[in-house]
Amino acid sequence: MTEAPSVVAIDGPAASGKGTLARRIAAALGYAHLDTGMLYRAVGHAVLQAGGDPGDPRAAVAAAEALAAADVANPALRDEETGNAAGIVAADPGVRQALLQFQRRFAASPPGEAAGAVLDGRDIGTVICPDAGIKLFVVAALEERVRRRVRELRNRGIESIPAQVLQDMKARDERDRTRAVAPLAPAADAFVIDTTKLSADAVFARAMSFIRSRGGVERKPPLSGGRSGRNRSYR
Ligand code: CDP
Repeated sequence: MTEAPSVVAIDGPAASGKGTLARRIAAALGYAHLDTGMLYRAVGHAVLQAGGDPGDPRAAVAAAEALAAADVANPALRDEETGNAAGIVAADPGVRQALLQFQRRFAASPPGEAAGAVLDGRDIGTVICPDAGIKLFVVAALEERVRRRVRELRNRGIESIPAQVLQDMKARDERDRTRAVAPLAPAADAFVIDTTKLSADAVFARAMSFIRSRGGVERKPPLSGGRSGRNRSYR
């Protein structure tokens, strides 16, 4: 019997720990992982590289429509300037529309014939994959997220000014939460994990125990017979 792949949707604000959690869940389940923030970062980067303004809808949509899979693998996308540009282009409905199909295709046909996909971002559980079998929403206190981002940048050899990182993160949070299209918000059926005081191991354990409590990564509507829907790749 051919089954649609299972989907784990993980959303949350910047530096909340969703990326780390997504990678670990994908590795544990043998699923493919897509960090959807990299798509918006690639669009922001392309606009900046072309000398354009990320706030210009025409430039942003053109860059989103021209995006190639290879563009997402650029390590330069991780810098803060690109993150800020990503937050700006991400508020444009045309950009979101241009990136929608790629994300849905990844979820429906994960690369490498993986049995499922883990997508992390801002609107995965609400807009991209509203039928995902598992939805997680990862949050953390702003000060802790700033500490993590400063540490992450330092590990990559970039010294940042915490007050500046705080200011940028606040601005990005505000834009992500208040934009008209696909604002950052937990889906009604998302399991919320506050990672402020938790180690990565503890966050992972909590998420996996939620997945287990749900009988694995079932798709919706749940398969009849309850537990028969248990995902085989779940360990
Ligand atoms: O973790 P951080 O916010 O630094 O970066 P990211 O997850 O790579 O996302 C960069 C920006 O892209 C975010 O601030 C969002 O504005 C946007 N984004 C989005 O709108 N929807 C997504 N599914 C993923 C990212």
